[in-house]
Amino acid sequence: FVHQLNDESIGMQELLQSPLHLQPVPSQPLPPDLYGPLRRNSAGLDLAMPDLRAPLEQAAAQVTVPAVPEADPARIAEAVARSRTACPGWSRAPVEQRAGMLRRAADAMEERMAPLCALLVKEAAKTWGDCVAEVREAVDFLRYYAGEAERILQPVTLPGPTGESNTLRLTARGPWVCISPWNFPLAIFTGQVAAALATGNTVLAKPAEQTPAIALEAVKLLHAAGVPPDVLQLLHGPGETVGAALVADPRIAGVVFTGSTQVAKIIQRALAAKDGPIVPLIAETGGINAMLVDSTALPEQVADAVVQSAFRSAGQRCSALRLLCVHEAIADGVIAMIQGAARELVTGDPAQWATDVGPVIDDEAFEGLQKHLRRLHAEARPLLPPGEAAPASRLIPPQAFELSDIAEVKQEIFGPVLHVVRWRGDPLQVIEAINVLGYGLTLGIQTRIDSRSLALADSAHIGNVYVNRNMIGAVVGVQPFGGEGLSGTGPKAGGPHYLYRFCAEQTVTINT
Ligand code: SER
Repeated sequence: FVHQLNDESIGMQELLQSPLHLQPVPSQPLPPDLYGPLRRNSAGLDLAMPDLRAPLEQAAAQVTVPAVPEADPARIAEAVARSRTACPGWSRAPVEQRAGMLRRAADAMEERMAPLCALLVKEAAKTWGDCVAEVREAVDFLRYYAGEAERILQPVTLPGPTGESNTLRLTARGPWVCISPWNFPLAIFTGQVAAALATGNTVLAKPAEQTPAIALEAVKLLHAAGVPPDVLQLLHGPGETVGAALVADPRIAGVVFTGSTQVAKIIQRALAAKDGPIVPLIAETGGINAMLVDSTALPEQVADAVVQSAFRSAGQRCSALRLLCVHEAIADGVIAMIQGAARELVTGDPAQWATDVGPVIDDEAFEGLQKHLRRLHAEARPLLPPGEAAPASRLIPPQAFELSDIAEVKQEIFGPVLHVVRWRGDPLQVIEAINVLGYGLTLGIQTRIDSRSLALADSAHIGNVYVNRNMIGAVVGVQPFGGEGLSGTGPKAGGPHYLYRFCAEQTVTINT
């Protein structure tokens, strides 16, 4: 053991000072006072599944995916005009009133868990476990931002000379364009919309082209909870037309976008190119997310974390693990365990309870992944049997390849594909090589040296660092989520600073 540590340039002094955990560190319990409702929603999924099984199956038998009409240019122009007109009334309403509507929508969403999950399985091809988690995350966003808006939208009195009062207050900006992705078509859609609404802004919501029906359901629930139709409008259609028209409109006040880095940059350029005010962009994009495993890590824990992080949701999470950097001293054992664990995964129809890995979202994604896999088969060492990719059902069994260098991973691959690299020497240099990739969304660290995990986290330009656990499934209000560099503009969804980004600030000085 000590020999292995010396291999990694750990000083004996550091080793002696570092408390070693011989067991995996349990995850932190949620603070009960603050996050009572979240504990119910975002934790303990497995416990709730048996109760849900019958209603979910019933809902699945009945569900149809409604067609959602696309917005044409006239509808878009009219929607922006209405959004502007509706904004003053909405933003001047007491924050408690808006928060109440979000909480009512959360309750309604929770009651409609089964039909919403059935629609998610059908429209987004997510597995049942992922669907339940997603509805719960959407509910959490509604409740969390309701509470956060009530907390932060209180005027702050500042000190001043006698005869003068100074007040700082947050105000709404105006119509926000919310552009959301297909991989969390309910949770991220609802989170963006709830953040903008809670802070008194009006919303023009453009869901992903692949998943408009679940977005429409969320909008209906929010309208039924009291949000006026002009305050929240859904505009479905391709990003290239509907999204682009919304972003280019001079009357919008902000854009919140989750999707690819490439599209985030297109939006940023479009916002910069138009006349009028400087419009803020909140972007959360993807990542070449890495996990660094040192020689002290527990192989069983690593294998479990890797399989969850790389292959759950068919790897279609922006947080998913793409690049495993494992110390050479334990690499063979860890790889063998990952191979064993991955072989147990069932790839198949998401509506089947046994399925772990469902299909990828569409034919374009399937083709792109196949192309990448062909290249990897030619250039790298395959670690898992290729299985049978099925174009008709868009199924790709989990795949892993060993490469010789971190720099060989050049782009984010959005699917169940893991790249593995062995390392030796200084782990800080591994973090440096990961930083050089330019993305900064999630990082996993597996080590039993506490001081090392903090030192590595300090050196990483990465938004979410997970130590000795998997690196997906950030919980609202518990793991504020968002990246830097090529991974986004920084704001943390589900965190205590997020709502400020949707607001303008006004200082009022009165000579009394
Ligand atoms: N928030 C999700 C996760 O943490 C990704 O969007 O996995």
